[in-house]
Amino acid sequence: MRPAANAPRSQRRSAAPGRASAPDELITVALPKGRLLEEASALFERALGVSPRELLHGTRRLAAQAPEVGLRFISIRAADVASYVEHGAAEVGVAGLDVLREEQRDLYEPLDLGIGRCAVVVAWPKGAPPLPKGVAPRVATKYVAIAARYFAERSLPAEIIELHGSIEVAPSLGLADAIVDITETGETLRANGLTVAEKVLDVSARLIVNRVALKLHAERLRRLIAALRSAADGRMGGTS
Ligand code: PRP
Repeated sequence: MRPAANAPRSQRRSAAPGRASAPDELITVALPKGRLLEEASALFERALGVSPRELLHGTRRLAAQAPEVGLRFISIRAADVASYVEHGAAEVGVAGLDVLREEQRDLYEPLDLGIGRCAVVVAWPKGAPPLPKGVAPRVATKYVAIAARYFAERSLPAEIIELHGSIEVAPSLGLADAIVDITETGETLRANGLTVAEKVLDVSARLIVNRVALKLHAERLRRLIAALRSAADGRMGGTS
């Protein structure tokens, strides 16, 4: 029988002729590059005593092994983490709730890691006059699904314009009347003359796990999740 399409690599390989099952092989953890890597790395260090950031540092390698804890870390674009985990190229990952709610993938989300906190908001140019009655605002965003749901749930007509970055500049160039985007410090909104009208979603990073891997490596993943939960609870309680 062929393994499921989203089966982790270990299961797909073990199904090949002549390959033994390898339940003790390294579990792959996909971490996002960029601002979340540092926080995620600190959490893994508190939980397991290994720092993915240091293991990956100073090299162009995108993967580093930590056999003493049975893990391999890969560092990839934040937007790709959920895809790697859903398709079983990594068993575990760290992904923002913004990405998870936008893409609605088939993943297990056992843990709020309490890092990467920010919010998805609707923002308008400061002091912008209201649009004429009956005119749907043009809303620029990379969160097309989240924005569409937000306006639909409120029965507000809106024309969603998909962009892939630098969303905040769209209103000043006349491309959009408003934006839906993430904000952390609020600096980028302020610098572009925008002000928050409403919060759409509170965001933090979640641990995500491939559903097949969860069955295949149940005990190892249960221990990993428990260790990360303790580290995250300690961090959130300020007891570091
Ligand atoms: C995000 C977001 C804002 C910025 C907000 O961009 O899209 O541009 O961070 O942060 P602030 O409130 O602290 O100023 P990101 O760095 O993810 O890059 P992007 O432009 O590709 O979305």
